[in-house]
Amino acid sequence: MERTFIMIKPDGVARGLIGEVIGRFERKGLTLTNLRMLTIDAELAHNHYAEHVDKGFFKELLSFITSGPVVAMEWSGEGAVNAARAVIGPTDPMKAGPGTIRGDYGLAVTQNIVHGSDSPESAERELGLFFG
Ligand code: RTP
Ligand code: MG
Repeated sequence: MERTFIMIKPDGVARGLIGEVIGRFERKGLTLTNLRMLTIDAELAHNHYAEHVDKGFFKELLSFITSGPVVAMEWSGEGAVNAARAVIGPTDPMKAGPGTIRGDYGLAVTQNIVHGSDSPESAERELGLFFG
């Protein structure tokens, strides 16, 4: 059984979309196997988004992701990583189709509601960061 790390970002929490997001993964057939609400500090943000530290958008991403509480979750199921990415939709909400979380609820590329691991290896690394 594969595991993935999913996080409802500060915009999703602030907009009251926690139940909506969780319901979509449940309806897809994935199983919620761990959950924690926290506010990310700068150190955890750097670790989580280490691959993006040199990107032009990193400063904006760091300030956004630490701006309020997030919901960190472990979801399990067959092909969980790709299944969850399909439910979430492409990074840019303007390119995400209807029926995806970002397509239905997002407008901006930074504030795109939810994070999902991009590979099983990333998932294990990120689950370790958030759940030890
Ligand atoms: P995520 O890691 O959050 O699930 O998103 P993703 O794989 O679809 O996208 P990724 O390339 O990993 O980017 C991480 C997050 O950085 C913000 N971003 N801003 N302004 C920009 O051009 C830009 N590009 C990416 C988004 O919040 C994106 O989800
Ligand atoms: Mg990513």
